[in-house]
Amino acid sequence: MAGNITFTMIKPDAVRNGHIGAILNKINEGGFEIVAMKYTKLSQEKAGEFYEVHKERPFYGELVEFMSSGPIVAAVLRKDNAVESFRTLIGATNPEEAAEGTIRALYATSIGENAVHGADSDENALREANFHFAGTEMFM
Ligand code: CMP
Repeated sequence: MAGNITFTMIKPDAVRNGHIGAILNKINEGGFEIVAMKYTKLSQEKAGEFYEVHKERPFYGELVEFMSSGPIVAAVLRKDNAVESFRTLIGATNPEEAAEGTIRALYATSIGENAVHGADSDENALREANFHFAGTEMFM
């Protein structure tokens, strides 16, 4: 059965471009409940650790540099079938391929600077939530 928790980050490009409020509004309108949230900044080391699964990819260095370039909003969200439902709300990784009205179609600028992250599985959602939040910071 699909889980009811996902993890997201509003990335440095969307924060710099003033889209935090609009993106949180889309998240609320999409029926997600925020069970944890913080405004923070990843060190290069932490960003590298978070995206370790992409270590061998050619864009890894660029990704780590970008994700540690400014503040982000990290959040844990709850809704039935959360992972898949949130990936539908944000749209394809490449904003040029993202469906109309999705968060990435509206606010992303490129495949690298794509406004938001969304966990890709229930297992990763929990791993990523625990990476950013202590148990006492998540109001499940
Ligand atoms: P995200 O959902 O955060 O997960 C991995 C990230 O790697 C992805 O979003 C993109 O921002 C980034 N990414 C994926 N493909 C590329 C690429 N070809 N060039 C640069 N960044 C990429």
